[in-house]
Amino acid sequence: MLNLVVAACGASGAPYTRRLLQALRAAEARDVAVSVVMSPTAREVWSHECGGDVRDLGFPLYDHRDFHAPFASGSSDTQAMVVIPCSMGTLARIAHGISQDLIGRAADVMLKERRKLVLVTRETPLSLIHIENMRAVTLAGGVVMPASPSFYGKKETVEDLLDSVVGRVLDHLGVPVDRGPRWGEP
Ligand SMILES: Cc1cc2nc3c(=O)[nH]c(=O)nc-3n(C[C@H](O)[C@H](O)[C@H](O)COP(=O)(O)O)c2cc1C
Repeated sequence: MLNLVVAACGASGAPYTRRLLQALRAAEARDVAVSVVMSPTAREVWSHECGGDVRDLGFPLYDHRDFHAPFASGSSDTQAMVVIPCSMGTLARIAHGISQDLIGRAADVMLKERRKLVLVTRETPLSLIHIENMRAVTLAGGVVMPASPSFYGKKETVEDLLDSVVGRVLDHLGVPVDRGPRWGEP
């Protein structure tokens, strides 16, 4: 069983969260368990960009202050965490070990336990502070994966572009899913 945490922050890009959760729902039959946590601003952005209730996707949703969540501890068997989208504020907190909410704490746990942490950052342009924070997280073992869709393969819809990012995230999380052709494939 692969235990994953999906965290969402208040950066633009809630459709990435929704698309990832939809893909994980399809992958559930293949022994993937998912826990979800959203910052308060992520909930606001979700209602602007997606609407509806994230709980409708069927995964347990933890309160952002719930330090009793299993994945707040290194003793849990959570193997990987993705923050999608990751705001510059949360990036900064993770880079500096400020675990004042569940997202920061869970990310801190992933880094200290040398487990997989993927940050799908969303901001442009970047200041030197953002770049230095990405550097710090990378040096600590995290993967910074900016939300940067690819256009090869003749993408036609917004969903195609979202999937080009989500597919790469799933690869890094180690979730086997059927997805579109990779570079060099017909
Ligand atoms: C609609 C909306 C869009 C935002 N987009 C971004 C963004 O793309 N990148 C970013 O770093 N912050 C963005 N912000 C600002 C963050 O939400 C803000 O810095 C917040 O404190 C981040 O906290 P959180 O990471 O705990 O959610 C946005 C805020 C709102 C309301």
